[in-house]
Amino acid sequence: MATNPTQIELIQPDDWHLHIRDGEVMKDVLADTARQFARAIIMPNLKPPVTTVDLANAYRARIEGQLKLLGVDTFTPLMTLYLTDNTSADEVRKAKAEGIAGFKLYPAGATTNSDAGVSDLKHCHAALEAMQAVGLPLLVHGEVTSSEIDIFDREAVFIDQVLEPLRKNFPELKLVFEHITTLQAVHYVRDAATAGKNTIGATITPQHLLMNRNAIFAGGIRPHNYCLPVLKREEHRVALLEAATSGNPRFFLGTDSAPHAKGAKEAACGCAGCYSAFNALGLYAEAFESVGKLDKLEGFASFFGPDFYSLPRNTKKVTLVKRAQNIPNELPLGDATIVPLRAGETIAWSLF
Ligand code: NCD
Ligand code: ZN
Repeated sequence: MATNPTQIELIQPDDWHLHIRDGEVMKDVLADTARQFARAIIMPNLKPPVTTVDLANAYRARIEGQLKLLGVDTFTPLMTLYLTDNTSADEVRKAKAEGIAGFKLYPAGATTNSDAGVSDLKHCHAALEAMQAVGLPLLVHGEVTSSEIDIFDREAVFIDQVLEPLRKNFPELKLVFEHITTLQAVHYVRDAATAGKNTIGATITPQHLLMNRNAIFAGGIRPHNYCLPVLKREEHRVALLEAATSGNPRFFLGTDSAPHAKGAKEAACGCAGCYSAFNALGLYAEAFESVGKLDKLEGFASFFGPDFYSLPRNTKKVTLVKRAQNIPNELPLGDATIVPLRAGETIAWSLF
């Protein structure tokens, strides 16, 4: 590859962590993702949450109905269930039998729509044992929720207090540390001993590769750069970028694109979540190019995710072109609007 390529071809990527909501909102965000990605792990934090296989199948049917209306037949939603204190081992086995991709652990109160989350993992032993036995991955929102713990430390504390004991108790459980944001998480995932098995992975968002926490306060408060886990210091961003571009298959693409209406973000108590789906691939390409590692993008975006989930890699190729794309100030979102990441600015790369 030339040192400064102006276009790159890669196997079509997938998004291994995505929020598309439901109803009118879903209608407006799904097309953005389906334009770029072949598959996406669909997060279950709806209101009420997707806690059973029946609810997930109904949600999948609504997504497929919407894709049909959009005329899209090239996108596959991968469904997840929301783990609760009451998830039974039977539900886990049923999930496996019906092609559910994994369970999502939200510590209760950690983030948007997580009130029904797990209060203490000790309530989940039977479900976790069943997941380990049938090989269903646990997707982890890795933050402690205690208000005494500084918000910038919640991920690092989670590793010691929750993740490490969890992996000791369930050494064969497949686990994705979702949207990692710290040096500590990078080191934990990189160095985790797995007895040669493919049992730990981590997703990384475009915003955590491109911005540090100053971006939330640049010249005034910037609600559209606020997500959870919150952006961290520059040293963490650098560690994440190094991990993503290292070629280590434990790190793969998950946008965590999380749509909230403009009014819900620009408020006295604004919601957490960045909408990156409009041109997520362009954002990742920028991040990889910034350290001269565009040649590592395909592994991160297109290979390591399916390999972790034991799914076939995609075969279709897509072309990313270095051509600045203007990002609108607002996009339609049901009867409201949404402000995408980079609104009113440009993204250097876009799909051909
Ligand atoms: C997500 C959302 O809005 O659903 N928000 C976010 O800031 N990332 C929830 C989540 O993934 O934490
Ligand atoms: Zn998320």
